[in-house]
Formats: sequence, structure tokens, C-alpha cells
Amino acid sequence: MATNIQQPSHVFASAAFFQNPYPLYEQLRAESPIYKGSAFKYPGWYVTGYDEAVAIFKNKAVFQNRMPLPETTKRYERLRKLQQEMMLFKNAYDHKRLRGLVGKAFHAQMIEEYRPYIEETVHELLDEISRKKQMDVVMDFAFPLASLVIAKILGVPRKDQERFRAWAMCFIQTIDLTRSREDMMQGNKQAALLGHYFQSLIAEKRQTPQDDLISRLIDEEEISDEELLATCVLLVIAGHETTVNLISNAVLSLLQHESQLLLLKKDPTFIRGAIEETLRFESPTQMVARVAVSDIEVNGNHIKEGAQLYVLLGAVNRDPAKFSEPHQFDIARTSNHHLAFGYGSHFCIGAALARVEAEVAVQVLLEKADQLELATAEPRWRRLIGFRALESCPLYFEHTI
Ligand code: HEM
Repeated sequence: MATNIQQPSHVFASAAFFQNPYPLYEQLRAESPIYKGSAFKYPGWYVTGYDEAVAIFKNKAVFQNRMPLPETTKRYERLRKLQQEMMLFKNAYDHKRLRGLVGKAFHAQMIEEYRPYIEETVHELLDEISRKKQMDVVMDFAFPLASLVIAKILGVPRKDQERFRAWAMCFIQTIDLTRSREDMMQGNKQAALLGHYFQSLIAEKRQTPQDDLISRLIDEEEISDEELLATCVLLVIAGHETTVNLISNAVLSLLQHESQLLLLKKDPTFIRGAIEETLRFESPTQMVARVAVSDIEVNGNHIKEGAQLYVLLGAVNRDPAKFSEPHQFDIARTSNHHLAFGYGSHFCIGAALARVEAEVAVQVLLEKADQLELATAEPRWRRLIGFRALESCPLYFEHTI
């Protein structure tokens, strides 16, 4: 097995890894596209090969989604109770049932109806920012946009969106491999607050239904009260943190690759390609997990029942066997079949929404900017393994309103 790779537990924990995880992914893939080892205290199979990832996603009978917290966990009970009702951690019939109910609201056609709201919100945010001449793409732009949009779809009052950031950040930390005991305790506390918040919002909407997703789900007979609550929480979190990352990563990647920025400015029809390439090049979700429910052979590797698998999407999306020049950011790339939104039965429900939000955000930002420059040469990344998330990304930005 591994010869020249340092113990991954040390490499994963290093500051260099969080700034740039790709050299380690290369090393892992060179050893084996399905590498058996451990990151921190989590032993399992680390998947960096594209074909191997697809094979695993396709075999949903054997490779299943599981809650990160075991069902016996008492200490983080509130968090566990919410997780256990989320479609993300369900399989087979229950997964299909929940996904069917929620998925309707996120079809590409439905999402197009929100485009005018997204455009209007982007203009408002940029006009506001322009008064300051400097902005942090993450906190001043991407975050308020993503939270206002998901709040609009769910039917959450605009004033409450401020609270989402803390919840989303906390939750993400509890499912990341970097999680500590403090993260879990904080996550459990936040889960209780979020649970209470949605419980009272759902009660209000039962009394006075409105034209929003929560009111529509209340009318569905096939969803239990606990599932409804967990679905609201999942959508706030899933629909949020990753979209913030996509928008911020797209702005950063374009500003770091001048030829690509010029190409997009010259021909705005490349916007779709720019967002797809960001999804591949700096995948907002870097890892998804599966558990093998029976013994199985993948590519000559014997995976035992109960084994944990970590599919490193950020690595898979730079597999040279699938993508030519994988480390180049190329917005004109064709056949960009990245796996940034996953694959198969758990494929991201919010993909169409994330794409529209990012396309509008980046396009309008470029159209409006008289000046757009990175205010720091090396923006800092958050210390997460499962997500490619900028801590902040300061820019000089000016436009005439
Ligand atoms: C599932 C990524 C935005 C809701 C997933 C999965 C990935 C992903 C990789 C699959 C997880 C797995 O296979 O275990 C992303 C990225 C996004 C994004 C990169 C933005 C750039 C959104 C948005 C929403 C959303 C905007 C909703 C508003 C969900 C839900 C699931 C999911 C509900 C679970 C689907 C299921 O279990 O069937 N997402 N997501 N996501 N995503 Fe997203």
C-alpha cells in the first residue's frame, strides 16, 4: 500500500492542504484511485478516480447514504434527530418519497420563475456594496444572495435570513471530517434553535398558508411533521453554504485567470461554461460519503461490509483520465461532465437553482463593475475537508449606479 505518502491524517490536517488540496489528491490517485487509509481518525476508502466514483454512485444497493451520527448517539440527540429525517441520509423507498415531494419545486422550469427575483436582488446588493468601494465577495454578496433566495422559496421572512449563516456554518462543521467535540456540541445547540424556529414558522403557515414551499409541503399527506421540519433545515443548509461557495469560487477563479475573464467579458455567452468550469475546478462540495452494506469488489479492491467510503469530488473532477489538462481553468471546455452535484439517486436537488444564482451573480457583477480587482493575492480558505469554501475574498469594486 502507501509508500511515499505521509500518513494522510497529518497531511489532511496541514495548513497547506486547506489552501491547496489538489497535490494530495494527485498523490492519493497515483497510489490508487480507491485508496485505503485514514484521514484524522476516520479510516475508509478515499476515492479519487472518476470512473470508480461513478461505479460507486451507480450501485445504490450496496453503497448507501448513512447519517454521520450513529443511531445510538445520545449526546447530540437534537442534531441526530434532525439528520435522521433528512432525505440526504435516507435510502430506497423513504428517500424516493421525500425527494419526489420536494424535487418538484426545484425543477429547472420552476426555478426560471425565480430568475427576475434573483436579478433584482443581485442589482440591489451591488448598488449597496458600491457605496463602500470594497467588498468581501463571500459575506457582502454571495451569502446574502443565497440566503435571500432560499428564504424566498421556502417562505421565510426576509429579516430572518441573517440567522442562516451561523446555522449553515455550524451544520457543515458537524458533517465535515475535521469535526471536533466542540463543533458537535455547538451544532447540537444550533439544531435545537433551528428546530424551534421552523416549528413555529410551520405552525404559523398551518394557520395562514401562503404561496411558498413550506405551505405546499404542509398540505402533503406523505410527509410526517418531523420530516417536514428536517426538510426545511436541510434546504436552508444545502441551499446555502454550497451556493455561496460556488459564487465566490467563480469570482476568484476568474480574477485569478485573466485570459478567461477577458474571454467572458468579450463573449458573455460563456457564462454557463464559466460556472460549469468552476463547479469542476473548485468543486464547492469536495466530498460525499457512502457505506458499503455488503462485501463487494471495485477495481480489484475488496471492500468489506460496513466499510466507509469517501468520494473526493474535488479530486474526481480533476482526474486526468476523464478531463484533459485537469488543472487548467478553461471556461470553453466542452463535455464537462463533472460530478460536483453528485450522481445518481442523490443527485443534488438544487443544481438548477445554484446554476441560475451563480450565472446571474457573476454576469451582473462583471457587467456593472468599472473596477474589479482582488484586494489580496492569496485569499484564505476555511479549514474544511468536505467543502471548498473561502473564508473571505476581499475585492476592490466600483460601479456607477
Ligand atoms: C445533494 C452539491 C446546491 C439541495 C447534493 C449532493 C451534492 C450537492 C454533491 C449529493 C450528496 C450525496 O450524493 O450524498 C451541491 C452544490 C451546490 C448545491 C455543489 C451549489 C453549488 C444546492 C441547493 C439546494 C440543494 C441550492 C436546495 C435549495 C440538496 C438536497 C440534496 C443535495 C436536498 C439531497 C438530495 C438527495 O439526497 O436526494 N448537493 N448542492 N443543493 N442538495 Fe445540493
